[in-house]
Amino acid sequence: MNILILGSGGREHTFCWKLAQSTQQPKLFIAPGNAGTAQLGTNLPIDPTDFDTLAQAATSHAIDLVVVGPEVPLVAGVHDFFATHPKLSHIPVIGPKKEAAQLEGSKAYAKAFMERHNIPTAPYKQFTANSLNEGLAYLETTPAPYVLKADGLAAGKGVLIIHDLDEAKTALSDMLANKKFGAASEQVVIEGFLDGIELSCFVLTDGESHVTLPFAKDYKRIGEGDTGLNTGGMGAVSPVPFNDAAFKQKIHDRIVLPTMEGLKKDQLDFVGFVFIGLIRVGDDPFVIEYNVRMGDPETQVVLPRIQNDFGELLQATAEQRLHETELRISPEAAATVVAVSGGYPEAYEKGKAITGLAGDGLIFQAGTAEVDGQVVTNGGRVLAATGFGADVQEALTSAYSKLSTISFEEMYFRKDLGFDL
Ligand code: AMP
Ligand code: GLY
Repeated sequence: MNILILGSGGREHTFCWKLAQSTQQPKLFIAPGNAGTAQLGTNLPIDPTDFDTLAQAATSHAIDLVVVGPEVPLVAGVHDFFATHPKLSHIPVIGPKKEAAQLEGSKAYAKAFMERHNIPTAPYKQFTANSLNEGLAYLETTPAPYVLKADGLAAGKGVLIIHDLDEAKTALSDMLANKKFGAASEQVVIEGFLDGIELSCFVLTDGESHVTLPFAKDYKRIGEGDTGLNTGGMGAVSPVPFNDAAFKQKIHDRIVLPTMEGLKKDQLDFVGFVFIGLIRVGDDPFVIEYNVRMGDPETQVVLPRIQNDFGELLQATAEQRLHETELRISPEAAATVVAVSGGYPEAYEKGKAITGLAGDGLIFQAGTAEVDGQVVTNGGRVLAATGFGADVQEALTSAYSKLSTISFEEMYFRKDLGFDL
């Protein structure tokens, strides 16, 4: 079996690592991949939104299955492209079609989906440049803090949480009238602030059945104590200690099942991963957002805890046989710590030599490249070290110890992960 994986992050390296253990011994192709994926398969220098070049590669490498890592190609319709292409329509794609990808690609679409299917989420209203004055008036009628969300994809930067009314009004005008986030903020969702602790739920569905994967919690802010700018994710743990059996049941009954049924009722034909961003308010779960893919760096703790053959799991998904699958989850906890280039998530330098990669730790590479036989930094989030233990604290200790052998100039990582658990 030849598998094409789209993406270049730690998530995609983890997919490759897990697939490399499959009894199906798949041949892996990664577009574009990184220095880590290059050790487990063949990197193809193709942008995952360059569909025509992907089509040529899928044909020349006799690809049997496509697994999409990031959201951008999904929202751009990569699945629809394959499904309607005369030479590619036989190749299953793990990842939703363009319409269903709107669950991540448009906050307003996701809110309407939740409203339609009675899925608990913060109350909201949506505005465009034409209704800016109504939006400003609406802000005056709602209590602080104000949650303003650019409707479209904004690489994790499109959500603003503002405490001061005048600042919120200025931000709303910037987004709608001055297109602060470009086309992504032509529409803005204003929603109620939910005060609680976040966790993430991952579901793999074949369009009919689904399996719920291990829960995880990620750390998004650059600074210790969850301070400073938002990032793609500085680390993650799984399981989530405060997610007890009673709370899990509520998530299942109130959120996972209605989401799966909603996808069917709306005939969205969703095949792939649903990532449900949740917040626990008191004793109740609410949905903060949907993503239509696995999380990064959550994948680096979720996949290592799954004991099933990942090749078989993906094939069962593609063939709508997930109902036959029983997920086996390791009782061990996993934690991952992300090392980033100094300066990230703002400007940073690339090309720094990385040493210590040869150890026996589970190191998932992200922003790396190989230049003249040397692995160098090539992005903001450079790599993640995953460790295991009897509980999350032990797993974190192990992950930190694995990371301690690695170094590159201006390497930074948070030393306080798990502080809130
Ligand atoms: P999102 O891109 O929708 O996940 O939002 C990014 C981050 O903003 C989330 O991970 C939360 O930390 C925060 N956030 C989003 N919506 C809300 C809300 N309604 N109440 C409180 N925090 C929120
Ligand atoms: N770690 C959050 C995300 O993948 O969007």
